[in-house]
Amino acid sequence: MATIRNISISTPATGEEEWQAVREPIMNGWLTQGPKVAAFEKAFAQRHQVKHALAVTSCTTGLHLMLAALDIGPGDEVIVPAFTWVATANVVMFCGATPVFVDVDPLTYNLDIKQVKAKITPRTKAIIPVHLFGLCADMDALTKVAPGIPLLEDAACASGSFYKKRSAGALGLAAAFSFHPRKSVTTGEGGMVTTNDDALAEKMNMLRNHGASISEEQRHHGPRPYILADFNLLGFNYRMTDLQGAIGLVQFKKLDQFIAERQRWADYYSKELAGVEWLRTPVTPEDYQHGWQSFVCFIDESKAPLPRNAIMEYLQNKGISTRPGTHAVHMLGLYQQKFGLAPDDFPGARDCDRYSMAIPLHNKMTKEDYEYVVATIKGVRCAA
Ligand SMILES: Cc1ncc(COP(=O)(O)O)c(C=O)c1O
Repeated sequence: MATIRNISISTPATGEEEWQAVREPIMNGWLTQGPKVAAFEKAFAQRHQVKHALAVTSCTTGLHLMLAALDIGPGDEVIVPAFTWVATANVVMFCGATPVFVDVDPLTYNLDIKQVKAKITPRTKAIIPVHLFGLCADMDALTKVAPGIPLLEDAACASGSFYKKRSAGALGLAAAFSFHPRKSVTTGEGGMVTTNDDALAEKMNMLRNHGASISEEQRHHGPRPYILADFNLLGFNYRMTDLQGAIGLVQFKKLDQFIAERQRWADYYSKELAGVEWLRTPVTPEDYQHGWQSFVCFIDESKAPLPRNAIMEYLQNKGISTRPGTHAVHMLGLYQQKFGLAPDDFPGARDCDRYSMAIPLHNKMTKEDYEYVVATIKGVRCAA
């Protein structure tokens, strides 16, 4: 075995270009949402085949913005997958509405569409399908079982992903993306909401800026200095800064290259690890482009030499960082207590929580790093 390396689960691919990009806003003093954010939004909308893109402070606030713009509130229900980052369900609670969990298919980690219909009631106001780890949910199948119900994509992990030649972000009524440092492109914290719906875009635009009827930029450049915005809606401050916009623009230009690189190494992992009988590598259905936010494997403990957690510790001791894919939200204290949920209520999500393992895949890794990960995983057997 080669000498021990130190491989993180994720390292943002930022550097000199991003450093230089923040000079301009710092020097010209336009720091809050301004021209850099506008340029980032334009590029993002074009690449994601969608009419409107609005930058926000995170995917979480983007999801909240959509629900607020749709007037979702107490008494309403929103369907969410049981295996996702907690934010997908939290945003429903922010609105005083009820998250209704549906189990996931452990093969794709996404909503098990067959189980959605039984959860639809007259109170169902939206469904939030999650494109988990960068693989799009089966949106056509979902539209079939839930006709007329707004589909709001949680595309946190899906910048650049495709579903049957259509881009993530253009598959539902609206979508929200994340630029957290564990995502393929980052602005530190940050997010983007997209939609083709003009009225929804206009309302979200107002709501992200306190509900103001005109933006700061319009006011700043407008001919009438005495004009103040009117406020007819209860809004938020979810504006992205121009510092983040400048970084986002530079990062975003590299998105396709980042995904292509990740695809190449995902293929390498899938091929090299195919013979490890206790480990299932991720599936990509035909006609999907995975965004490869992370490479999440599933461990079959009945065949594995060690339980999942012991395998993760073993890899950690060899300098390889791993993480559970994400968590089962219905098993988190808040949700268990509030809704009286038990782990076995959603066995798919429960198993993904217990047996998933993300292994390192990011744009700062070298060929030697990937080879070392493969060799070390193959060696777990000998270590038992
Ligand atoms: C599926 C999913 N939804 C929402 C979020 C929240 O994104 P953010 O950190 O940008 O608020 C994440 C973040 O990891 C996520 O993975």
